[in-house]
Amino acid sequence: MPPAASTFASNIDNLFYFIYWLAVIFFVLIIGTMAYFAIKYRRKDPNQRTSPIHGNHALELAWSAIPGVLLIAVFVWGFRAYMDMSVAPKDAMDIRVKAQMWNWSFDYPSAGVNTTELVVPAGRPVKLTMSSKDVLHSFFVPDFRVKKDVLPNRYTTIWFEAIAPGEHQIFCTEYCGQNHSKMLSKVIVKSQEDFDKWIEGQGKLDESIPLSEHGKRIFTERGCTACHTMTGQAGAGPSLKGKYGSQENLADGSQVLVDDNYIRESIMDPTAKVVAGFQPVMPTFKGQLRDDEVDALIEYIKEHGGQ
Ligand code: CUA
Repeated sequence: MPPAASTFASNIDNLFYFIYWLAVIFFVLIIGTMAYFAIKYRRKDPNQRTSPIHGNHALELAWSAIPGVLLIAVFVWGFRAYMDMSVAPKDAMDIRVKAQMWNWSFDYPSAGVNTTELVVPAGRPVKLTMSSKDVLHSFFVPDFRVKKDVLPNRYTTIWFEAIAPGEHQIFCTEYCGQNHSKMLSKVIVKSQEDFDKWIEGQGKLDESIPLSEHGKRIFTERGCTACHTMTGQAGAGPSLKGKYGSQENLADGSQVLVDDNYIRESIMDPTAKVVAGFQPVMPTFKGQLRDDEVDALIEYIKEHGGQ
């Protein structure tokens, strides 16, 4: 089992192991007894006949009542654990989760912050309200024992309370297309104090770092690399090497100059001018990237992909 990093993880583990050992014990008991009887009472000569057995009420009651009680125990335990996980405490911190091919983004409505990694305070319940921009995804944090489908046109919610500061893997656990296996992110648990500091520092780019360096980071963090390279090799989208300042052939037969405005438009409204030879599959990043982040991306493409 992965480390139990949320408040209800150990209960889930206990229930799992309870069912697991129950299955092991009954498997050994039933198969063992069957094998033992098959050998012990095997037919030893052709004239041997089975003795006439017409039932045993005590035995039948026992093998109905014992599994019955065990099943009810598993149900009650499981149902209570499920209800605990389904109903978030009233004082939970709200975070919105957006899934899209093939990345996660997280909105902190009360702070006006948007991130690609889920940063949460330890020792405080956090409620996630999740939705998808395109297809069915599934949000899974093994260390927290939380998993729930993320759907388009519907909200699903989960909650958890992380026990201590640390880092935990997020997986997409519903096959959602070509780069499903790369649809990864992290939960970063901070102490309440560090969390408050972190959220205050959000919302602006560190000016001591060159804009194109921010662009490079955003390019990776936002999952642009899933479809675009800087090497000249086309993926699901065109390579961006040498594109800045060039004329691009579009799917409708026209041409466009790759400049700041075209790049910005392609990020915000990707299907407006699709490059010839590619499908209009890129999702919009409207509302997910701030203006200074778009500037940083343009700067990165200009520097590393320019002619
Ligand atoms: Cu998203 Cu798999």
